Amino acid sequence: MLYRPFRNSDPPKLHQLWHLCALGPNAAEGFSCDVFELFACAQPYWDPNGLMLALDEASGRVAGFVHAGFAANAAQSALDYSRGTICGLMVHPDFRRREIGTALVRRAEDYLRSKGANSVVAGGGLEQNGFYAGIYGGLDPSGFCTSAAAWPQFFQKCGYAPCDEVLILRRDLIRSKDPVNAKLLRHRRHLNLVITDRPTNESWWWFVRYGHLDSLRFELHEKANGNVVASGQIIGMDLFIPKWGVRSVGIREIFVPESQRRHGYAQALLLEICRRLKGESVELVEAHVLPADQPVLDLFNSAKFDVTGRLLTFRRSL
Ligand SMILES: CC(C)(COP(=O)(O)OP(=O)(O)OC[C@H]1O[C@@H](n2cnc3c(N)ncnc32)[C@H](O)[C@@H]1OP(=O)(O)O)[C@@H](O)C(=O)NCCC(=O)NCCS
Repeated sequence: MLYRPFRNSDPPKLHQLWHLCALGPNAAEGFSCDVFELFACAQPYWDPNGLMLALDEASGRVAGFVHAGFAANAAQSALDYSRGTICGLMVHPDFRRREIGTALVRRAEDYLRSKGANSVVAGGGLEQNGFYAGIYGGLDPSGFCTSAAAWPQFFQKCGYAPCDEVLILRRDLIRSKDPVNAKLLRHRRHLNLVITDRPTNESWWWFVRYGHLDSLRFELHEKANGNVVASGQIIGMDLFIPKWGVRSVGIREIFVPESQRRHGYAQALLLEICRRLKGESVELVEAHVLPADQPVLDLFNSAKFDVTGRLLTFRRSL
């Protein structure tokens, strides 16, 4: 097996490998090689040395690849080179259980260490994966899909400890019905929904990860005084249509100002977003939430979202 960094002629081979690796329900498929390049190699911090390939010397076939990167700093204004990530890892089914995955992980670690990382999180984590937003994970590549591979066994053998679990919450807009109560009816009379397509105050990290995708901002305004009582954002997930067969959208950044909490505004906003999306032929709405974030889980639960899957991350000190 030959291991080497990325070359400019590699994307068609990587794109083909992606489609041969059975990456599970959370990986988009059926997109072009241009799309692969856009979401894997077009970020401003793209470094060809961060993507390593394993090639079978006898046949010349690509057996696998690993893609290493870095998390963002706290201000989301630049990379934090002390916090490495393994953003992508796959080995062709014909080459599995031959320690190729392990060898790729070791090469990713060497690369990250050489750049100053003192830890690595495989899978990236919630909003921390710098590559593949739009084609892996659904709304966000927040971790590796539990059903696609024996990730816990694999990373345990590589010396990693389980890190975060990100819950995928979904609502089927065709089959589910909106809850009805007096508070929601009152809110509908007193609040206006305002939709804008211009990102406001988004960070550099937001633009590099979501900038190529459709996004809209939703706000609930009080009719009487124009005060914003709840806001949120949607991200288009159209690249998953060939795989899932339905139009889906991700919801993120639901926010209610401190003084306006516990009035049901967030639930009213979520339901209003879902109603509008249904009118636009969107069938599935998705959100990613950490299990410890009970208020957010309760909120999505109240708007008829269910936990449908999990994305996992694993951590190792370097
Ligand atoms: C996970 C994956 C990368 C492992 O690659 P690999 O080359 O087969 O891994 P290795 O041979 O280095 O395995 C090392 C150890 O991990 C564990 N392991 C790997 N695959 C396993 C499996 N299917 N079941 C149980 N344990 C497994 C074993 O302990 C193994 O050691 P052993 O063979 O001596 O028992 C591969 O299965 C894969 O590509 N799956 C899909 C990846 C994917 O979905 N990527 C999307 C994110 S971008």
